[in-house]
Amino acid sequence: MRNSLKIDGQVKTYLHEDELPKAWYNVRADMKKKPAPLLNPGTGKPVTFEDLQPVFCDELIKQELDNDTAYIEIPEDIRTFYKMYRPSPLVRAYFLEQALGTPAHIYYKFEGNNTSGSHKLNSAIAQAYYAKKQGLKGVTTETGAGQWGTALSMSSAFFGLDCQVYMVKVSYEQKPFRREVMRTYGASVTPSPSMTTDIGRKINAEFPGTTGSLGCAISEAVEAAVKQPGYRYVLGSVLNQVLLHQSVIGLETKAALDKIGVKADLIIGCAGGGSNLGGLVSPFIGEKLRGEADYDILAVEPASCPSFTRGKYAYDFCDTGKVCPLAKMYTLGSSFIPSANHAGGLRYHGMSSILSELYDQGLMRATSVEQTKVFEAAKLFAQTEGILPAPESSHAIRATIDEALKCKESGQAKNIVFGLTGTGYFDMVAYQKFNDGEMSDYIPTDEDIAKSLAQLPKVEG
Ligand SMILES: Cc1ncc(COP(=O)(O)O)c(C=O)c1O
Repeated sequence: MRNSLKIDGQVKTYLHEDELPKAWYNVRADMKKKPAPLLNPGTGKPVTFEDLQPVFCDELIKQELDNDTAYIEIPEDIRTFYKMYRPSPLVRAYFLEQALGTPAHIYYKFEGNNTSGSHKLNSAIAQAYYAKKQGLKGVTTETGAGQWGTALSMSSAFFGLDCQVYMVKVSYEQKPFRREVMRTYGASVTPSPSMTTDIGRKINAEFPGTTGSLGCAISEAVEAAVKQPGYRYVLGSVLNQVLLHQSVIGLETKAALDKIGVKADLIIGCAGGGSNLGGLVSPFIGEKLRGEADYDILAVEPASCPSFTRGKYAYDFCDTGKVCPLAKMYTLGSSFIPSANHAGGLRYHGMSSILSELYDQGLMRATSVEQTKVFEAAKLFAQTEGILPAPESSHAIRATIDEALKCKESGQAKNIVFGLTGTGYFDMVAYQKFNDGEMSDYIPTDEDIAKSLAQLPKVEG
């Protein structure tokens, strides 16, 4: 039992529905040095609208290639859907602060308050909207942890689209209930690598018994889209358009902080492909780029898949099957298959080109954390703040706790804001392994990483 709980202010800040952002913010518009363009692997030249048209929806390609428009209006139908679960709350973590005995003020933006259980719905509904507007029959996609697939299933059901999901095999096996949620929303779910695509059969033959990766599942989903008339492929992270849609998180966070008169010192987010972190920090980085304010920004990745902290900034394939365009990003190499750790959504070999460029310019920093330390943090957070966090989100919690403990040492009362991207109700196998003391921390060796980096494509210039 705690001694006494002292709360000297409001715990949750909710914006009014009328304050929901009317436009997404495109941080590329404020970047002097833009993120490197995607390259066509055939020609080695920057991809054009026509190159991408067989794969992606038209409106999304325009957003992908738009480096200049700072604000892009959120269509009314998407804003209406957002109102089902947005604005999401900004919460002061008083109970965690007290448990840590830190002078830091900790805030988190909670994105788990919808059935998909994460921020992924912010982009899924946008992508489904544009697919419907284009008159398509359906969409294909990959999913790692399952949150993105669930979000897209919900969004496809809302707009009456068929939804085909390739789910990384390890998650498919670890999370049978997650796939039932997707099926309940009408999606078909296939474990990847599967035997239903050319690329899946090839990967299965080359790596028998592989547990899969996001890179494999992407290749399969792209192949499925291109082979079926009236279908396009949609991706839940990494791409510029996804960071654009996720900027709704950062815009709301900024508005809520302004409302309570708080200036963030440190902003922390977990980084898989970079969409939640990119969305959360975009408006703040925008201020940094325009010289209006300064913020310390920290990306947190798993030690088992450390693209920022141990990867290379280079052009690479976005997928294992090498069917997608080349992106310049911090990468471990598209052939890198991370160990089967329990944060499925962070098992991607690369990182968003926008965040990679910002990191390269020194506008943000990164750290990596081991999974047992992550689950220790998740457990403390669940016990103090009451929310059972997703393993991915718990990477941000770990780093927040570490930073708050540094404040305890130094006596600094920093304002720390982190992204609580989702809930972990479908991750109970992982929690069970942790509670039973059966969780291990696999960290790739330098040789493992060098081996996959040696296979990076050769790109002129
Ligand atoms: C709850 C949650 N948080 C974070 C992530 C990481 O993705 P991103 O880096 O695109 O935000 C995922 C990906 O599946 C996720 O499910």
